[in-house]
Amino acid sequence: MDLKDQAIIVTGGASGIGHEAVLALAKKGADLIVADFNIEGAEAVAREAEALGVKAFAYKVDVSKAEEVEALVDFAVEKLGTLTGMFNNAGISKVQSLLEMDPASYLKVIEVDQHSVYYGLHYGAKKMVELGVKGVFVNTASIYGSVAAKGSFNYNAAKAAVIAMTRSGALELAEHGIRVVGVAPGFIDTPMMKNVPDEARASLAAQHVTNQLIQPEKVASVVAFLFTDAASAVNGSTVAADDGFLAFKV
Ligand code: NAI
Repeated sequence: MDLKDQAIIVTGGASGIGHEAVLALAKKGADLIVADFNIEGAEAVAREAEALGVKAFAYKVDVSKAEEVEALVDFAVEKLGTLTGMFNNAGISKVQSLLEMDPASYLKVIEVDQHSVYYGLHYGAKKMVELGVKGVFVNTASIYGSVAAKGSFNYNAAKAAVIAMTRSGALELAEHGIRVVGVAPGFIDTPMMKNVPDEARASLAAQHVTNQLIQPEKVASVVAFLFTDAASAVNGSTVAADDGFLAFKV
């Protein structure tokens, strides 16, 4: 129970990596806000977390809207009494060639995947400083923040920015006792993957050492660890949870 008395917001908590992160953090004793666009899904996940013996509240948010993220941070403090952590994880992808990608389509992914992380860091850290608490931010990047993938021009840009914001956020916030780290998942077996045809899923899985998609619980356990003091030496870095994808060719 090394996260007892911690109060952590998880965005995108209704599904996939966020859902499993809520459960992994609850198992370590953290109280939680399950924040998502999908409020029914967030409610269900909050009930699962409560069943593990922690406080958990669902909150409907569009993370691409600054004022909604600010209100989310206020809600967390109102319900949990403090804020000591935030998992900036909600994200989308939309595979499209650069030639077909119009400005609206480009900006949508940038707003949800990139601007949301700035809003989380900005409003979350301001609140922690105001409360005088130390805290930890974990941001979900991607292997596609480090390497390009066809059809992912906007996603590549957004996730590279998340890796950069993790570094500069850590530098800016260290003097306040706030740590900022990232996680870069490989190909994860979540609803985000469900639209990918079977053949394409197999070719993605083949880029992992185990030749399988990674289960979201495995990313969640890395995330939960990053929130603990046992990970206090990790700051500003983005840790790959990618079954070898970035390290070598299989
Ligand atoms: P998912 O689709 O299962 O879950 C994403 C959640 O975010 C959903 O519950 C959705 O309702 C929520 N969401 C989307 N837009 C939102 C918004 N504007 N405001 C609030 N909530 C919103 O996806 P998954 O796979 O769990 O993805 C989580 C994160 O992991 C994303 O940032 C994604 O880019 C990243 N990632 C996923 C990989 C994969 O292979 N599945 C690989 C690398 C990174």
